[in-house]
Amino acid sequence: MDQDDKKNLVAEAALEYIKNGDILGIGSGSTVNKFINLLGSVRNKIEACVSSSNTSTELLKNMNIEVIDIKDAKSIPLYIDGADEANSQKELIKGGGGALTREKILAQASDKFICIIDESKFVKKLGSFPLPIEVLQIAKSSVSLEMIKLGARPVYRDQFITDNGHIIIDVHGLNINEPMALEKEINNIPGVVTNGIFSIRSADEILIATDNGIIKK
Ligand code: 5RP
Repeated sequence: MDQDDKKNLVAEAALEYIKNGDILGIGSGSTVNKFINLLGSVRNKIEACVSSSNTSTELLKNMNIEVIDIKDAKSIPLYIDGADEANSQKELIKGGGGALTREKILAQASDKFICIIDESKFVKKLGSFPLPIEVLQIAKSSVSLEMIKLGARPVYRDQFITDNGHIIIDVHGLNINEPMALEKEINNIPGVVTNGIFSIRSADEILIATDNGIIKK
């Protein structure tokens, strides 16, 4: 099975978590795109979706699935999203696709967060994947400097503006020994909108696609 097959497999496994009348939170990325493509088969069960990115919104609308604003959702019983890395504590690094802020808002607002990944993303320690940070444009240098002080290497994501109108700095070489402490520390730097560590609100369950099928953590 290649990585694409595994993304399909895990997207399909997430379908069984949907209950009748659910408002679904929908993340972003190639794994979630596969999940969206499968939603046609359960369209009747879903009341509506709340989307984390313009791309996911467009895909959902193409599937004739209603997309509502988060403020109009009475509750979000289930949020489905991918990740760039996940550990056994169900802490994540997200933001490879740049939708981390809305994803974090949705994760926080949801009753249950199911993260769907292939096995290449399940790691012992977070941090091999560069940590995405969404930053106000005027704080590009000052936030980068703070990352250098942490011993890391900030790389400006060229030609990329988020759905919220901000830039992304991808931070290489961070030592993420304590994900929650680092998530809070980076959040406290002026100009940071969100960082891609999901530890304060981690996933509730991780579905991992392997060559031998789905593993649940
Ligand atoms: C987007 C994300 C994605 O969930 C993450 O990048 C994983 O994407 P993919 O499923 O394409 O590997 O956080 O901001």
